[in-house]
Amino acid sequence: MESTPDYSDGNSCSSRAQIHMRMAGFRLEQVTVTRGLATLLGQVSVSIPAGRCTAVTGASGAGKSTLLRLLNRLDEPTSGHITLDGVPIAELEVLALRRRVGLVAQASVLLTDRVLDEVRVGRQDLSDAGVVELLARVGMEPWFTERATAELSGGEVQRLCLARALAVEPKMLLLDEPTSALDGASAEVIGALIGDYVSAGGTVVLVSHDHGLIESVAAQVLVLDCGRLVSSRAGARAVSIS
Ligand SMILES: Nc1ncnc2c1ncn2[C@@H]1O[C@H](COP(=O)(O)OP(=O)(O)O)[C@@H](O)[C@H]1O
Ligand SMILES: [Mg+2]
Repeated sequence: MESTPDYSDGNSCSSRAQIHMRMAGFRLEQVTVTRGLATLLGQVSVSIPAGRCTAVTGASGAGKSTLLRLLNRLDEPTSGHITLDGVPIAELEVLALRRRVGLVAQASVLLTDRVLDEVRVGRQDLSDAGVVELLARVGMEPWFTERATAELSGGEVQRLCLARALAVEPKMLLLDEPTSALDGASAEVIGALIGDYVSAGGTVVLVSHDHGLIESVAAQVLVLDCGRLVSSRAGARAVSIS
């Protein structure tokens, strides 16, 4: 008989459906990351459910980017365990994991000279119309396709990197301060995109300081402080699973 992992956080969770729901997504158990004498994350245990947006907030240097990087194995925990849908991510093939879990980093790196080529980095087969459609989802007009990437503003680079990540059709998106260089209108486009993505069954882990954005999309809000998880609460978008 298959054994069922115990994901209880102290609350009993009796029905099979609830246990299944809690297994889908990421589970971190006592995750610690140290670099030299510095503790970037200390003993973090938390569930990040699938099909929802989990926001991660906290002061600069709190460990937010480190947490995101762990989830698609750009970093490895010094100790502790991370599972995805109940499977240790250390056992998954890294490139397969990264196709499934797309990271849009805080300081995005562009890899090509032209916007059209940039969106196609992970999807060479994508049609021109497909590129235009992805640009529209991040609030960029069709004429951007021919623009040189070197000429883009910081906010345009941020949105282009999000379009590039979406092109691979990941099931999960890790977004590191995706609206930090955007004005209010562009930030609203990203909020709507996150909402649509989650409505379509996707999972988002959103690092942000934008409380309006967090309130509009997050089902769970985590707060990190000096590498510790100091708060975990339901967000405005939480739905009951009982
Ligand atoms: N390789 C490293 N060695 C030592 N300290 C690091 C290293 N990488 C990041 N840090 C430090 O770890 C802390 C957490 O970093 P980070 O996860 O980027 O924080 P946040 O994204 O919340 O601003 C910061 O104080 C940062 O300076
Ligand atoms: Mg950061």
